[in-house]
Formats: sequence, structure tokens, C-alpha cells
Amino acid sequence: MASDWVFWSGRKETWIFERMLIVESLTKTFPLDEGDLCAVDHLSFRIHPGEVFGLLGPNGAGKTTTLRMVLGLLEPDGGYAEVDGVKTADDPIAVKSRLGFVSATDGVYPWLSVREMLMYFADLYAVDPSVAARRCEELSQLMEIEPLLDRRAGTLSTGQRQRVTLVRGLIHDPPVMLLDEPTRGLDVVGVQTIFEYIEHLREVGKAVVVCTHRLDEAERLCDRFGLLHRGQLRHTGTLEQLRSSTGRDHLVEMFVDLLRS
Ligand SMILES: Nc1ncnc2c1ncn2[C@@H]1O[C@H](COP(=O)(O)OP(=O)(O)OP(=O)(O)O)[C@@H](O)[C@H]1O
Ligand SMILES: [Mg+2]
Repeated sequence: MASDWVFWSGRKETWIFERMLIVESLTKTFPLDEGDLCAVDHLSFRIHPGEVFGLLGPNGAGKTTTLRMVLGLLEPDGGYAEVDGVKTADDPIAVKSRLGFVSATDGVYPWLSVREMLMYFADLYAVDPSVAARRCEELSQLMEIEPLLDRRAGTLSTGQRQRVTLVRGLIHDPPVMLLDEPTRGLDVVGVQTIFEYIEHLREVGKAVVVCTHRLDEAERLCDRFGLLHRGQLRHTGTLEQLRSSTGRDHLVEMFVDLLRS
């Protein structure tokens, strides 16, 4: 894990900011018929263990493209991502084992039972079967999907499927979680469950990136924010810092200003 040198009371100490996820000058351009589109433009941010970072931006801002590059699903044109001390480009398999990824478009394997699917994913991540079984029980309890464990995944409702996907994202106990619009399609209770899940991730020291359009809830939940527009981070910081840099009280107003800029 990367660490900074800091001076404290005149003495040089190691630490202090452990950086679980580093995104450094990440850049991606897509060639389109009408010309090149720079979807992510020299994007940089760092996230610490136990921190929830809201990567927020309007449709097409570059959020999913950023996460795909961190995951190693898309090759950047420039810059790099580093997860728990490993650069994605250097060892994509090691990086995948350090990441949990949940998106609203995740599918489930319809013919497997929920338990079979969770155990299958644990196996893909080389989790010992007895550890996987224990984690499966613990996480199912946490996400209140115990009654669904022996149901075939194809019979689940949208909200039930999303809970299962959240459990799946944690089954290998990764230090970093990437959540891409995890609340899309969920009812009020489903959204509340996701937010409680994110609170839990913070409590157990995960570094979390959450992309969401639910700005009111993000405001309540996230420790820090990055406001992305046209691939560039326009504002970054805590809510207080954003308030003083934008002169606006709420993320919604900051967003409207962004879209008009
Ligand atoms: N494979 C691709 N080929 C060409 N253009 C792409 C590709 N993937 C994404 N884009 C474009 O890159 C830009 C950023 O897309 P991205 O999916 O990262 O946005 P987003 O911030 O996740 O938006 P949303 O909130 O709608 O999910 C968009 O203009 C999109 O059309
Ligand atoms: Mg997206």
C-alpha cells in the first residue's frame, strides 16, 4: 500500500495517508465517426481505507469509463490506476482480486441457486470453500437474503437480485469496492439497504467509490466527492470544501452550475 512521508512536530514519520486506490492522470479517448471523444481526461484522485468517495457527474461524464479502466476492462490511453499497491496494467488478475464491483446492469446466473452462484464466484476468486461458506452466511444475514439462498437466481425481483449482487461483490473480501449506480431500479427500502451496506463498508475499512445520481443521499453518505463533467474533475473535496469552492450549499445546485458551464 502506498504511503506518504509527513513531517509531524518536526520529526519525519511514515504514514499517514494510506492510499488504497490511486487514479493518476487516467485518460481515455474513443474514436467516433464524428471525431474523437475524450471520455476521461487526465483524471486523478486517491481514496483511503474507510473512506466513501462519491464520483458524481451527469450522464456521459465518464464515471463508468473510469471504473472500467480501474478494473482492467478497458485500456487507458494514458495514466494509471493502482489498487492496494498494485497497478492495474501490471497485474490485472491481482487487481481484480482486490476489487469488488457492483453495477446496476449486473446479471445473475438464472439457473443457479443464489447460494450456488455465491459459492461459484468465491471459487473464481480462489476463496477457500469453508471460508466462502461462512462469508456467504454472514453476508446473507447482513443483506437479509437468507430466505433466498436456495431460490433459483432467475426468479428474483430486481431489488432481490441487487442485494445478491452486493453480497457477490464482497464474497472475496476485497479492500476496495466500486459501486456503479447501485441504487438504480430499487424502491425506497432497497435504496436504504444499499446505503446501510455502504455504511457497513466504511465501518469495516473498505475504500469505496460510489457513482450515483441520487445526490441528496450521496450528500449524506459520502466523505468526499469528485464532480466530473466531460471527463474532467471540476471540483473535489468534502462537502464543506465544495461549498466554499462553489459558493453553493447543495450538490444539486453545484450540478446545475456545472451543466450550465
Ligand atoms: N465503448 C465506447 N465507445 C464509444 N464511446 C463510448 C464508449 N463507452 C463510453 N463512451 C462514451 O464516453 C462518454 C462517457 O461514458 P460513461 O459511460 O463513462 O458515462 P457515465 O458518466 O457513466 O454516464 P451515466 O451516468 O449515463 O452512466 C459518453 O459520451 C459515452 O457515450
Ligand atoms: Mg455510467
